[in-house]
Amino acid sequence: MKMNLSKTIEIPMIGFGTYLIKEADAKSCVHQALRTGYRHIDTAEAYGNETGVGLGIKAGQESLGLSREEVFVTTKVWPGNDEWGQPPKTYDSTLEALIESLDRLQLDYVDLYLIHAPFPKSQRLNQWTALVELRRLGKTRSIGVSNFNAVHIEEIKVAGLPLPDANQIEVHPWSQKPALVSYLNENGISTIAYSSLLPLSNWRDIKGQRGAKTDNMKADGASTNSPFKMMSQKYGVSEAQVLLRWGLQKGYAVLPKSTKEERIQQNFDLLTFEIDDYDMAAIAEMDRGEGVAWSSGDPIRVD
Ligand SMILES: NC(=O)c1ccc[n+]([C@@H]2O[C@H](COP(=O)([O-])OP(=O)(O)OC[C@H]3O[C@@H](n4cnc5c(N)ncnc54)[C@H](OP(=O)(O)O)[C@@H]3O)[C@@H](O)[C@H]2O)c1
Repeated sequence: MKMNLSKTIEIPMIGFGTYLIKEADAKSCVHQALRTGYRHIDTAEAYGNETGVGLGIKAGQESLGLSREEVFVTTKVWPGNDEWGQPPKTYDSTLEALIESLDRLQLDYVDLYLIHAPFPKSQRLNQWTALVELRRLGKTRSIGVSNFNAVHIEEIKVAGLPLPDANQIEVHPWSQKPALVSYLNENGISTIAYSSLLPLSNWRDIKGQRGAKTDNMKADGASTNSPFKMMSQKYGVSEAQVLLRWGLQKGYAVLPKSTKEERIQQNFDLLTFEIDDYDMAAIAEMDRGEGVAWSSGDPIRVD
């Protein structure tokens, strides 16, 4: 199942997320994902696992006979953030960042290159201009942003620069962002959803994993009358599958991450059932507003 990212580029709607997969485990997890059938892998400079992800892609290509064109690879430039003592990337260091990512991934190009977050106002447009140049150079087939809101994208528009092909944002039933999604649709920008599984009680439940999910939210997900538990029984699938299927039915690409073979398989098996209109309408009522996947120490600033 694919959707159009631009007039000429399609993106597989079920991607494999790799945040919090350690460098040492990335090769086997990505290889497993490719064996399962995923053809879209999402990583980032900031995940510290691009070398392992690249090895996993190579292993998948060799064992499955896949050509480079058959695997859609996304990575992201970490923009830097003055407030965290990180010098913001400039135009030049953004260009260099993709060359370094490609070196770690052992690839000649990626399919989608994203600015990970809209942090340094002073460099945002310079970073975006660098992505436009990287696409022209053939180092990436398409370009986009992540965690940008309409104000950030309007900056690009006002500057007369090409608009992003995609915006990767936290979207799930608890954070539906209807105004931002409408804005993206109106501007022909594809929505790629991350942290789709967040309503699950076990989402990022290992101590030390970053994220701001409160104990109350965990309890909500665990309750026996959780609406997703009831839907999972109705459709004969897992709650994770219901959540991912919701994203697909909304028209978003999804990026489930797991290190467990059984879950990697289950999260790819989304086309055998459909959430009915009644349940889609019920989920539409569950929006709680802003996302929670970034911890409170990681504010995604609007200015
Ligand atoms: N652009 C950004 O700022 C941004 C931010 C966050 C994420 N992302 C991207 O989006 C991807 C997905 O988001 P995410 O990693 O935050 O969360 P996610 O994929 O929504 O959820 C991952 C969590 O759910 C568990 N899980 C996975 N499949 C499951 C299943 N079938 N049943 C029960 N539990 C399951 C995982 O544990 P196990 O691993 O133990 O299975 C992990 O705790 C990331 O990996 C990354 O590629 C991007």
